[in-house]
Amino acid sequence: MTEAGRFALLSRLRISPPVGALVHEALDRAIGAAEGRSPGTVSALDAGCGRVSALRAFRPRIGRLVGADLHRPSAPLPHLDELVIVDLCGAVDGFARESFDVVLSSFTLEHFADPPAALANFRGWLRPGGTLVATTVNRRHPFVAAYLGLPDGARRRLQPLVKATAGDAHPLVGACNDPDAVRAALADAGFTDIRLTTVGHLARAWGRHWPTFALGLLGDLLTTAMPSRRSTIVAVARVPAVGA
Ligand SMILES: C[S@@+](CC[C@H](N)C(=O)[O-])C[C@H]1O[C@@H](n2cnc3c(N)ncnc32)[C@H](O)[C@@H]1O
Repeated sequence: MTEAGRFALLSRLRISPPVGALVHEALDRAIGAAEGRSPGTVSALDAGCGRVSALRAFRPRIGRLVGADLHRPSAPLPHLDELVIVDLCGAVDGFARESFDVVLSSFTLEHFADPPAALANFRGWLRPGGTLVATTVNRRHPFVAAYLGLPDGARRRLQPLVKATAGDAHPLVGACNDPDAVRAALADAGFTDIRLTTVGHLARAWGRHWPTFALGLLGDLLTTAMPSRRSTIVAVARVPAVGA
């Protein structure tokens, strides 16, 4: 069965909504709210942009789209107006305060050496009423915990099996990677209206090859009925509006 066939099988099984669909919905709402506040001037940051961005689909509705990452991605990113090479955990002055209406940070939290510092930066760079959409892995899932717990060398040997390219295999830290920790860190950073959803995403994430797809599918099925243990966390949180 091809990779496309495996993903079609997942859609038929309907284990949980794909992360991509949840992120798309959240971004649609966040950009809609920003359009209401300042039509035509919506600005968005893809924080830890890598080379794939869910914000790309919204390009016609975004006036300024900035990507930020530790590294220059291997492929050009023509959907961006600007790419800034920066450590999101360190650079308080990476961007001016209140620069963005929307921050997307997709599968990054597990890589941050200092997640509270990064979340505080996102909070400061967002305008009042702005929205953060973040996705990350959940170490309450036993397979995720095992993967994060592997010695670096062993994990580096496994990563090419589950990642599209070697360039997509980034060092993992996993310092803020369960639903309670993510919620607490967002609240500590000053976010409100925090909404966390967990979904089974292992079969999709590991779906390049049959054996890892099958392992991922088993992992997703094992935790379907245990929301706090599903593999992946989608977090949406807001900066209080002025006068709120
Ligand atoms: C798993 S990739 C996700 C890429 C993309 N957001 C996606 O969803 O496909 C994680 C990205 O976060 C970046 N990253 C990790 N730590 C970072 C940091 N401290 N500052 C900036 N970017 C960072 C990595 O370089 C990498 O591009």
